[in-house]
Amino acid sequence: MTDNLLKIGIIGCGGIAGLHVNSYKQNPHTEIAAFCDVIPGKAREMATRKKLPDARCYENIAEMFEREKLDAVSVCTYNATHAECAVYAMEHGAHVLLEKPMAVTLEEGLSMARAEKATGMILSHGFQPRYAPLTRQLCEVVGSGRLGDVYYIQTGGGRRSGIPGGTFIEKRTAGIGAIGDIGCYAIDLALNPLGYPKPLTVTADKSDYFGRSLKYSEPENAARFDVDDFASAYIRFEGGLVMDFRIAWAMNMDTSGDMLMLGRDAGIRIPSTECWNRGPGGQMTLYYRNRIGMEVSEILPDPDPDFNYESLFARKVDAFVDAGLNGGPAPIPTKQIIVNQAVLDGIVRSAEAGREIDIVIPEV
Ligand SMILES: NC(=O)c1ccc[n+]([C@@H]2O[C@H](COP(=O)([O-])OP(=O)(O)OC[C@H]3O[C@@H](n4cnc5c(N)ncnc54)[C@H](O)[C@@H]3O)[C@@H](O)[C@H]2O)c1
Repeated sequence: MTDNLLKIGIIGCGGIAGLHVNSYKQNPHTEIAAFCDVIPGKAREMATRKKLPDARCYENIAEMFEREKLDAVSVCTYNATHAECAVYAMEHGAHVLLEKPMAVTLEEGLSMARAEKATGMILSHGFQPRYAPLTRQLCEVVGSGRLGDVYYIQTGGGRRSGIPGGTFIEKRTAGIGAIGDIGCYAIDLALNPLGYPKPLTVTADKSDYFGRSLKYSEPENAARFDVDDFASAYIRFEGGLVMDFRIAWAMNMDTSGDMLMLGRDAGIRIPSTECWNRGPGGQMTLYYRNRIGMEVSEILPDPDPDFNYESLFARKVDAFVDAGLNGGPAPIPTKQIIVNQAVLDGIVRSAEAGREIDIVIPEV
């Protein structure tokens, strides 16, 4: 790093990389030095489109790291190559901002956690809903103890019609479907306010009735669809908490329900969204009995009604850059997101085994 400036590399130049590039371009402490994509010409195309003609462009990360001294990278590849790219980058001296979900399997997540520990580089995770005012409000309410002990969470949400295309629908590239793509957000929104309790067991099911159907999917997409488009799960955590989870890219229903957190002193309803990628879908409501035993439903004021949700990406990139300049810590740490990954991994494994399984997260 020179002059308070981080030299940045962008790995994977598809849809989401564009938002990373826009955010780095707005940050005065970064310079995008290199782009990399395995599809020939794609890195150069992005450099040109983003008006960064001096950036160097590569088709594999080994060549990029051989020629470049990068301080940090954004890993914006599809899920199946998150781990190999992030581990390689950390081993070659770069901090990593990793897109969500962390990975496909827990084993891949652990490989990154181990590389982070061994190299001392910063690994932060791309969960931008954390920066939304309503997400922060939820964390404050839960953190204040107003709910008392939280014993049950229902995470709903998902889409009536919203099966993506591109690299999201094949095992080879995405690894997992709706479970990882939008399930990871619902899990983060629910567990982060509680400090990510330790998961113990999961029983789950998943299906793919819609992705393969011409009634719900484009013919070209239906022909290659081989991931999940719906999942439901029941997860037990240390301390007695249970989470009733469901997520959909498609269903014959408008919503599978709001997120509910039930505590012994109060419960909170968190309006669901189709994607959860911006945090709660609207103002939250607290339910409790007051001092004289009357039922109260209290709509919490929106802490920032004028908040510009387009700024979420810049906020996540800025927080990562600040950590890189100041030597850490990661704004969204691996010790939390590895639990998120363990839950995703458990849902997939339980669904495939057709029974309840244990979730075990080895020491890193
Ligand atoms: N945070 C968000 O709101 C958000 C939104 C969309 C996608 N995402 C995540 O971002 C990631 C990418 O999504 P996308 O929509 O940009 O996908 P995409 O398919 O448009 O782009 C991924 C790119 O990565 C490239 N790639 C794959 N492996 C590579 C490797 N080893 N080295 C270099 N390049 C490689 C591919 O060729 C492709 O161009 C996914 O993990 C997705 O879940 C996050």
